[in-house]
Amino acid sequence: MAKTKRDAFGSKIGIIAAAAGSAVGLGNIYRFPCELGNNGGAAFLLVYLAIVLVLGVPVMLSEFIIGRRSQANAVGSFKKLAPKTFWPIVGFMGVFCGFVILAFYSTVSGWTLEYICKSLMNGFHGKDLAILEQEFSDFHNMGWKNVMWQAFFIFMTGFVVFKGVQKGIEKYSKILMPMLLVILMVLAVRSATLPGAKEGLAFLFHPDFSKLNGEVLISALGQVFFSLSVGMGALITYGSYIQKNDNLATTALSVTLSDTLVAVLAGIVIFPAAFSFGVQPEAGMGLVFNTLPLIFNQMTGGYVFCLIFFVLLAVAALTSTISLLEVMVAYLVEEIHIKRKWATVFACAATMCLGVFASLSLMDNTPFVIGGKTVFDGLDFLSSNILLPVGGMLIVIFVGWYLGKKKFYEEITNGGQLKIRIKTLILFIIKFVAPLAIAIIFIRGLGLFN
Ligand code: TRP
Repeated sequence: MAKTKRDAFGSKIGIIAAAAGSAVGLGNIYRFPCELGNNGGAAFLLVYLAIVLVLGVPVMLSEFIIGRRSQANAVGSFKKLAPKTFWPIVGFMGVFCGFVILAFYSTVSGWTLEYICKSLMNGFHGKDLAILEQEFSDFHNMGWKNVMWQAFFIFMTGFVVFKGVQKGIEKYSKILMPMLLVILMVLAVRSATLPGAKEGLAFLFHPDFSKLNGEVLISALGQVFFSLSVGMGALITYGSYIQKNDNLATTALSVTLSDTLVAVLAGIVIFPAAFSFGVQPEAGMGLVFNTLPLIFNQMTGGYVFCLIFFVLLAVAALTSTISLLEVMVAYLVEEIHIKRKWATVFACAATMCLGVFASLSLMDNTPFVIGGKTVFDGLDFLSSNILLPVGGMLIVIFVGWYLGKKKFYEEITNGGQLKIRIKTLILFIIKFVAPLAIAIIFIRGLGLFN
């Protein structure tokens, strides 16, 4: 049977834009400040940056290699490269993990739509922290409203994914992500010049190493993987659309750099302002969603900036949800042989079924609590702190040990065409350093064998 030609990214900038679009999202602007605030500030930032470099880049590169070499989805790629082994299970785990992430990620994505409406109606104007906090919690208690926005967001994601890879994804991310970067820079300047901002900058940049412990390490590891979109095959799926002559190593590096830049910038936006307005760094969800309107209230042209910002945040979230849904859809289309349209409908519906519980679990007195955690937090913990690290570890082991040296060099140099001077070092990291480091952090972080 003749196979239809797979979609491919049209240009080099296309793949960087799409992968960066997947990476840059709520993970950078919402989750990163939350994790940093909950884990002691600057020390977390340092650990985070170290993990990005030593573990994030190699895992991303490994995913690109698996994807491009196999030209298949997260599960199919392992089936092709390692037939008759247990390796495809790693792909299944990835598809499942994508489903779990999308279920709670879409809750927060929905909030960005609520915030767009609110900024349109100038709904933050003149309000102080106490009022914003009250309104934020009132909003969570309107469960149906959260669910409605969430459903709408999943619908939009499905729409783009259904339209296909190249047309759907590439077009949007190229212009809008740089815009987000610019607006974050403007905000960072405003925030860092607020009265009392110094304390926030110190929290972000003066490390207190006594705050480091196993839990901080695993949170940082989880945040790195979450933010870079690695550990579950999203970038295997995207890698399968990369062309044979693209440089995988520099692509991974560019995507990682852009993603990390946005996260650090988000930190510089949030913390000085939070300290200035008296928002606790441990405030969790409110840290970002209440601090931002307060900054806009202190800006000339705040109304316009606020509106544009939340629109761009919604777009950043959308390019991320697209990559999550694409993992499920590509799997259903290529492995289960369902038509793309029905695969999209099915994946969206399934996500919504789980997602409803994530949204409703944020109401006061919610029944959706498991083992002391809300469903929302439980899904977040399961994916970021368990599934992604385990997935990431298996992915580097696969490339380093199963594919092996010859195929690794072949992929990273495009069959000898590119000179990558540090390829031996990269292989060493992928084979030994990364799997060991992930395993150690994972075991310590979960408090096993203490
Ligand atoms: N990286 C995205 C963010 O920071 C979220 C995301 C998209 C993701 N695709 C993923 C996380 C795949 C893990 C795996 O917002």
